[in-house]
Amino acid sequence: MPRSPDEFVDKTIIITGAASGIGRETALIFAREGANVVATDVNLIGAEDTADAVRKLGSNALAIKTDVTDRASVKDSIAKAINEFGGLDFQFNCAGAALRRASFLDIDDELWTGAMAINATGVFYCMQEVLPHMLAQGRGVIVNAASMSHRRGGAGGLIPYAASKGAVVTLTMGVAREFADRGIRVLSISPGPIDTPFEDTAGGNDEARKRALADVPMGRLGRPDEIGELVLFMCSDACSYMTADTVYVNGGGGFR
Ligand code: NAI
Repeated sequence: MPRSPDEFVDKTIIITGAASGIGRETALIFAREGANVVATDVNLIGAEDTADAVRKLGSNALAIKTDVTDRASVKDSIAKAINEFGGLDFQFNCAGAALRRASFLDIDDELWTGAMAINATGVFYCMQEVLPHMLAQGRGVIVNAASMSHRRGGAGGLIPYAASKGAVVTLTMGVAREFADRGIRVLSISPGPIDTPFEDTAGGNDEARKRALADVPMGRLGRPDEIGELVLFMCSDACSYMTADTVYVNGGGGFR
């Protein structure tokens, strides 16, 4: 929770992947705190639905169709957000996908470049396009969605995804350290299995879900709001000395 009840009032966050799962829940959490929410997604209808839900909670919202793999689209969404709300305080780069499962020898160029484009290049574009604005205002927080898989390698189906999330963790560290003395903080979150439509789009099946759960001492999937609350904390002044690192949220499971 923020240290003062109105810390987020009149602040603005732009979220990619806001139509679904973690991005959508994070939008609602920031709305609860009174922030303006810019909900972007390649799925415009979903982003508009999230924006409507934000407005129902009494906060301002703007939905923008954005494909994070397209620099011009990212640039356009940031310009529209700033035009609407006068600035951007926070950016949550949440759009991501595993695309499909393939064993290592079956990974083709399309899968490899696709996973890198959505998960790594997308974060690169988003950070590079928002940073000039944040630097001009002398402050800003960026949070990137990584994944616990970057520590495990994604063996047996998700190596391109895991490698692209490793790039997110490294990008986060580099950008954070480069701008640490200019009012900018950059962090990433490495979730374990979270209950969202993500697994369906990753070609997961019941067997994959069982394997993921077997590795979680809490014995359950995480909820998307359990990631969103961490995004809120990371963006708050209570987190002012933390930058560059990734934080694991995984019910006690995974590699350590
Ligand atoms: P989700 O599938 O519910 O939502 C992902 C959203 O990203 C969708 O609304 C989709 O339309 C959007 N998207 C996909 N490609 C896009 C593009 N090119 N441009 C803009 N938007 C695009 O997934 P979830 O679970 O909410 O995932 C959010 C983030 O968390 C992703 O980066 C994912 O890799 C990461 N993550 C998820 C985990 C999970 O178990 N659900 C575990 C670890 C990390």
